[in-house]
Parts: sequence; structure tokens; C-alpha cells
Amino acid sequence: MNILVVGSGAREHAIAWQLAKSKQHNIYAIPGNPGIAKIATCIPTPALTPETILDAARIIDANLTVVGPEAPLIAGAVDHFHANGRLIIGPTAESARLEGSKIYAKHFFRQHNIPTATFQTFRSSEDATRALQSFTYPLVIKTDGLAAGKGVIIAQDRTAATNAIQTLGPNLVLEEFLTGPEVSFMVLSDGTNTIPLLPSRDHKRIYDNDEGPNTGGMGAFCHPNLLTPKQTDEILDKIIQPTVAATKFTGFLYAGLIMTANGPKILEYNVRLGDPETQPIMCQLDSDLPEVLLAAATGNLSTHTPKWKPGASVGIVLASEGYPQAPVTGDSITGIEEAEVLGTQVFHAGTARTQSGLVTSGGRVLTVTATAPTLNAAIERAYAGVQRIHFRGMQFRKDIGRTAPNQL
Ligand code: AMP
Ligand code: GLY
Repeated sequence: MNILVVGSGAREHAIAWQLAKSKQHNIYAIPGNPGIAKIATCIPTPALTPETILDAARIIDANLTVVGPEAPLIAGAVDHFHANGRLIIGPTAESARLEGSKIYAKHFFRQHNIPTATFQTFRSSEDATRALQSFTYPLVIKTDGLAAGKGVIIAQDRTAATNAIQTLGPNLVLEEFLTGPEVSFMVLSDGTNTIPLLPSRDHKRIYDNDEGPNTGGMGAFCHPNLLTPKQTDEILDKIIQPTVAATKFTGFLYAGLIMTANGPKILEYNVRLGDPETQPIMCQLDSDLPEVLLAAATGNLSTHTPKWKPGASVGIVLASEGYPQAPVTGDSITGIEEAEVLGTQVFHAGTARTQSGLVTSGGRVLTVTATAPTLNAAIERAYAGVQRIHFRGMQFRKDIGRTAPNQL
């Protein structure tokens, strides 16, 4: 098959790396990155739109296209492919509203009895401010649309909530603050059948112990026992199945969950794979990914059970100086091959190939990923790889995976 991967981050590098493993297929990426360019043919593009993606798929005669980021899905890339008779993995624009609008998603949860934080939605800052007297604190305030991790403020009192409403604009969700461990739970769906991926956890804050501003994600781990079989069944029965049934969802569905004392509750859906969770998950996958994706795109997932390597996987994000506020770029990167000799996989995100070699070109630069029989061994292996890599101002968290329950 000719397979097209859409996107340019470490998530897409991990997908392309797994797709390229069997060496039976031709892998392409639009636009890709210097890491992906080692295993696939990259197609430059000024922008990722449904039209530019379909054009690329036509040029390479793609048999299958898989989309990493949400924006082209929300813009209707899947609908555009379907209208032109080409296979693609992902949700239609209508299903993608689950990620594109938090107000839509919350009403969807209510309509389908899906457990979530209690909430009210608003279309005017004045109405939201007036309603503040009836809430308890801390109160979670979310902006409606895509906000790259900057759309959520946890207000400790009414003054902070009033300020948050001014910052976030008129279209808002105000919701109950939930407590409990966070889990990222992703499934692949063909419209009817779903297969769960390994449960994982992201680390969103820039500094150790979850301090500092939110980022796109500073690292993640996955482990089969992060959830018990009973918890997994409850998530599938109460959250995933009603969603897939109501939307005929195709593609990857990501549920951001809090495991509360009263069971799993959903914070948000993403309609694509998570970044950085995908990097460790792809490292641990032991199935033929092209075959699984083809089954998902053609409604034939029911015959597939994904296989996983035993143990756990960890991915550590290396970020540039100044990230997340103002990343400094253009610094020379060394040590990737030395890290890979130690048994890690290094996935590229913000890197660029120049005449003077590989340099940083974005906030999140690399994800150093490792799989091992235990979570601790995976953590140690990944950090040993990190020690080999260098660029000026490199930032990374030292505690990725350390929030996991001890028995993992
Ligand atoms: P979201 O964009 O909805 O995933 O929110 C970003 C982060 O804010 C989540 O990963 C949580 O850590 C936190 N958060 C969001 N909603 C809630 C909530 N209702 N209760 C507690 N924490 C929340
Ligand atoms: N890891 C969170 C996300 O991909 O949105």
C-alpha cells in the first residue's frame, strides 16, 4: 500500500515509524519532519487543508491516509476524502465537533448520559459572571473552541473566576472541579467496533511535580495495568460505546478522564491520537499497524485484537529554551544516534535540517521513548537516552512516569 501520514510532530513520526516497520509499504508524509524523512517520503505544503491533503494523496496514489492533528479533521478532511472516493482514517467534521466545541461536547455528554463534571454553558460573559454566585470553588472555566491547552482556568474564588471569564471570552463552560488520577484512554473505531489502545498518562505542566504553565505535553507513559479490567469495562460501557453508537465514530477517539471516587468521568474528547501519549503507545504496539488501520477504514475492525509487547513504555519530551511562552530556536542538536544505541526511539517534532546539521525549530523538539519489562526500567532507559542528547537551553521533566501507582 501507499500510506500517507498527515502532520509534522513526534506523534506523526511515531505513527510513520510503526507503519514503516514491516517494510512492505511505501510511507509518505505531508509535511513530515526531518525524522520522518529518514523512513518516509515527505511532501512539503504551505498549509494542511482538506484540499492540500487530498492533492497529496492523489499525487502519490495513496491507498490509505491517516491524520495526526485535529485541525484538518475539524475542517472536513475526512468528508472531502469520502466525497472523492479515497480511504482515510478519522472522523467526519460532524463527529470532530466533539473536540472542536466544548459546549457541544458537554451537551452531548448530558444527552447521552455520559458521566462528566456537572456544568452550565454560556454564550455571554455577562451571563456567566452573573451565574458565579451559584457555584462552589474551585471552579473550572473553559473556553468553547480549540485553545492549544490554554483554554482552561481553575479559579479558586469568585474574583479569580470573574477575571478568568474576562480572559476566556463569551463562549464558556463552567464546571465542577473533579479530583482523582487522570488517564488518557484512546480507542480506534471503524464506526461500530472499537479496539482500545493501552491506557496512558500525559504530563501537561512544564516543571516537575506538575508545576508551572500548561504545555502541549512534556512526557507520557503507558502501562496495561494503569486501569483495572473493571475500570476499562466501565469506560467502554458508559463513555466510549454510547459515543461511538451516537456518532458512528471512525478513527481514533481520545477520552481525557479523571478516575473519581464515583467512577471514571470524562473531561474532554479529542478526535485523534494524543501527543505525547502516542509515542510510547506506538513503541509498545506489536501488531501490524497498516493492517489494523485498513480494517478500521473499511469497517472490518471486529476481527482484530491488538497485540502489545509486555511491560511499559515512556516518552520524555525535550523542549527548547523559553517553551511554552517563547521558544528559542536554531540551536544545534547532537546525540540522537547515541541515544538510539541505548535502545530508545527518538521521535522528531520541532527540528529542521540545515546546512550546519540538525537544529531546533519549535517548542517541543524531540520525544525520547523506551519500552522495557517494567515501568521503572522503561523510565531508566528513556532517561539514559536523554542524557546523550544535547542542545542549548534543553528543558525536560525529570519525573515522567513517577506519578504512576507503585505496583506498575
Ligand atoms: P482539558 O483541556 O479539558 O483536558 O483540560 C486541561 C486540564 O485541566 C486537564 O488535563 C485537567 O488537568 C484540568 N481539568 C480540566 N477540567 C477539569 C475538571 N473538571 N476538574 C479538574 N481538573 C480539570
Ligand atoms: N496529550 C493531550 C493531547 O494530545 O491533546
